[in-house]
Amino acid sequence: MAKPLNIGLVGYGFMGRTHSNAYNRVTNFFDTEYKPVLKAVCARDAEKVKGFADTWGYQSIETDWRKLVERKDIDAIDICTPNNLHHDIAIAAAANGKMILCEKPLSMNTAEGEAMCQAVESAKVLNTVWYNYRRAPAVTFAKQLVDSGRLGRIFHYRANFLQDWTISADLPQGGTALWRLDAAAAGSGVTGDLLAHCIDTAIWLNGSMQNVTAMTETFIKERQHTLTGKVEKVEIDDACAFLCRFDNGSLGLFESTRYARGHKALYTFEINGEHASIKWDLHDLHRLQWFDHKDESNLRGWRSIHVTDGDHPYMNKWWVPGLQIGYEHTFVHHVADFLEGVAKGESVSPTFRQALETQKICDAVLSSAKTGSWTNVG
Ligand SMILES: NC(=O)c1ccc[n+]([C@@H]2O[C@H](COP(=O)([O-])OP(=O)(O)OC[C@H]3O[C@@H](n4cnc5c(N)ncnc54)[C@H](O)[C@@H]3O)[C@@H](O)[C@H]2O)c1
Repeated sequence: MAKPLNIGLVGYGFMGRTHSNAYNRVTNFFDTEYKPVLKAVCARDAEKVKGFADTWGYQSIETDWRKLVERKDIDAIDICTPNNLHHDIAIAAAANGKMILCEKPLSMNTAEGEAMCQAVESAKVLNTVWYNYRRAPAVTFAKQLVDSGRLGRIFHYRANFLQDWTISADLPQGGTALWRLDAAAAGSGVTGDLLAHCIDTAIWLNGSMQNVTAMTETFIKERQHTLTGKVEKVEIDDACAFLCRFDNGSLGLFESTRYARGHKALYTFEINGEHASIKWDLHDLHRLQWFDHKDESNLRGWRSIHVTDGDHPYMNKWWVPGLQIGYEHTFVHHVADFLEGVAKGESVSPTFRQALETQKICDAVLSSAKTGSWTNVG
């Protein structure tokens, strides 16, 4: 019989749902020593949070996260709130000896992130940040291929994360669902929201970055603020592009925008090595494109590998070869790995400390966009 791991979730929006789904499903598919128990969910509106608790099976509710983190019957706090609350909740949770699963980006900036790292490290609590794309089987498989050395020396890394949902000037900023447009809640725009994912995957696959040069743009300069009702300056970046140098000598090219008409969530990356190249696309997340120069010359070409076989990462836990899984499974995999970490007493990647590296790169990108110069990653 699996041991219980009592979860206290803060925030029941988009991520609150993906995580709750993962907690509910994980032990149906993964044989783990611990089993998540949905002990409590917290958000400010008691009626709405009660409805969420009933839908997903939480045993109780709270309307103040401070009470939640103090509860003796909670083992792990899961932070699914807008970015401006990550720091305070994490610090309080660590002070109460709770394990912490925090949504990305880790924090609003490096200084906050550093304080969060110190809090979990001095409290010695297990911690992780939900950079979930690492656990799409095709992305994990890409990591295995890179680590095997089959690509040889890496020359280029390029990534895009393209959306189109903020093009209308009538869209307000701030408040429920639109906090991403409000710098006070989000910290930054596409840099912390979307490029953070691209950066996390990039440093995982290709190592640390030395320096960056970036440009950002805010296309719609003013929007009505939902909370104040006033037209206010928009302080977030609507689009960001940057170049970087990696420690391994390769060059990086990154672009993200919410103004690419026709694209909803097009996250792609490509790595070009001496012997082989890899491409991945979130819209086709169960496939990995692979080009191998070692193939006979007349047979050379891009292979589209359907990452669904039993020897592909995570896939022996699901259906039968050839049947694919999707977006929500990346979160199930993260929970499965976290539970394995709990059994061993180890944090799973990316830890707060590892996610801080992404935060430092985001800060360097935003700073470079302001100064117009190459900026070292702090
Ligand atoms: N890993 C990913 O792919 C991914 C995707 C989307 C969002 N995120 C991250 O997840 C976090 C949440 O994003 P989302 O899309 O779920 O947002 P959302 O707007 O859908 O949900 C936010 C939730 O936080 C709650 N909340 C706000 N203030 C609160 C407070 N003071 N106390 C308690 N609850 C409060 C809201 O009620 C809401 O339930 C953000 O940090 C975001 O960057 C990650």
